[in-house]
Amino acid sequence: MPSVYIKTYGCQMNERDSEAVASQLVAKGYTLAASEHVADVVLLNTCSVRDNAEQKAINKMENIAGDIRKHRPNVVLGFLGCMAQSRGQDLIDRLPDVDLVIGTQKFHRTADYLDDIFAGRSTKIVDTAAEQGSEGTIREHLLNGSTKDKAKAVTAFVSIMQGCNQYCTFCIVPYTRGEERSRSIADIVAECRQLVAHGVKEITLLGQIVTSYGRRRSNSRESKVEGREPEIPQPSTLGSRLLTAKSPFVQLIEAVHEIEGLERIRFTSPHPKGYGDDLVEAYARLPKLVESAHLPVQSGSDRVLKLMHRGYTRERFLEIIRKLRGARPGMGITSDIIVGFPGETESDFGETLSLCCEVEFDNAYLFKYSPRKDTPAAAMPDQIPETVIEERHARLLETINDIGKRKYDAFVGRQTQILVEGPSKKNSARMTGRTRCNKIVLFDGAERHRGQLMDVKITRTGSFTLYGDPAVVGF
Ligand code: 5AD
Repeated sequence: MPSVYIKTYGCQMNERDSEAVASQLVAKGYTLAASEHVADVVLLNTCSVRDNAEQKAINKMENIAGDIRKHRPNVVLGFLGCMAQSRGQDLIDRLPDVDLVIGTQKFHRTADYLDDIFAGRSTKIVDTAAEQGSEGTIREHLLNGSTKDKAKAVTAFVSIMQGCNQYCTFCIVPYTRGEERSRSIADIVAECRQLVAHGVKEITLLGQIVTSYGRRRSNSRESKVEGREPEIPQPSTLGSRLLTAKSPFVQLIEAVHEIEGLERIRFTSPHPKGYGDDLVEAYARLPKLVESAHLPVQSGSDRVLKLMHRGYTRERFLEIIRKLRGARPGMGITSDIIVGFPGETESDFGETLSLCCEVEFDNAYLFKYSPRKDTPAAAMPDQIPETVIEERHARLLETINDIGKRKYDAFVGRQTQILVEGPSKKNSARMTGRTRCNKIVLFDGAERHRGQLMDVKITRTGSFTLYGDPAVVGF
């Protein structure tokens, strides 16, 4: 059977989609290649969030087409995911070497389309159509035993929903990923149980806007097959000690929390407006929900937040942070920030800087604003010149790095629990794990530590990394 190499650009959702496609291909008999140079099929799973992510994938495909195809003319080339969705046939018009363009609701069709190409039934395939129930098709995992080089997985990502209805004015995601569609709690829990049965200890619930989980009804494929309505939870006050209703997302976390053998639950990406008191309270109540939150703030200026259509103010964001830290001291908080949104003045940018100092994020990912096709912000007046964006980006990066360094340095001398994930990618003599607050810890360990929850004493720090020693001698 042909071998396949999948290269992934962008977010954890894309990583997860690639894993599911790889697993579906393996189930059909395809093998996974170690690099594009030896593969019979090269698939690029793409990101559209900023122009440079798109350009990277296009350049890569150009290089592959020019180089690999010259020596091996029968290699099949394809684009998957967000850019495939937004550009469709244009990609083949521009890069005629490309055989396959598969959008975000069609990942599960990849194996069939490759079969068609290898059997000579089709030559060029573009499928970017919407598909009802596609939110339930990202479910297969590459677990231990399913491939040669994939060792026992300790952590896993589980897709709980697809799409986003927030329509932030800068963001292409609602157009590439479509409307919000959620899987049922029963379906998600069944997948999580299976993972835990295979030795997974930590699960990250994934979606473009996980805090909106279950707020819109959708028809999942598996439910239709079984001839019943999908079980999408409705907010209910029954059984809640709160005055406010428990959101479907919190109900989902509770259901996953009950799985025996599961040690840790994370999720990404949430929206700050989804941090109601029910979710804050869940942190205080559910010990497996680790004290870590990735809360994309995007800007510290109320004026810019409004232009972005974010749906919260600076003060409301700060209140959420206070409440979270009240519920769980030591909460690790990271964020995404856009620099140079149209109309961002020096004073708006100053508000972002001051917010970062006030919150003291453990880390924040900075994004230079990139106009995206058909988004409202792309047509807004006062687009910021690149030189200004560069200069603000450098200043903010310095602030974020300074704060991060202080926060990481504060761990030195402390004992903390980590879940050991496996050997470090950079230095296989070292093992790597994560604290509950999502900091990477490297230590001199061995394969036998994989999958263990262990206490380490932090001895020093690197750049957004901690180094530790096992706290129990002889561990
Ligand atoms: N330009 C720059 N950054 C963007 N992001 C989303 N859209 C854009 C854009 N047009 C960033 C946001 C989001 C992260 C995943 O990507 O900060 O949280």
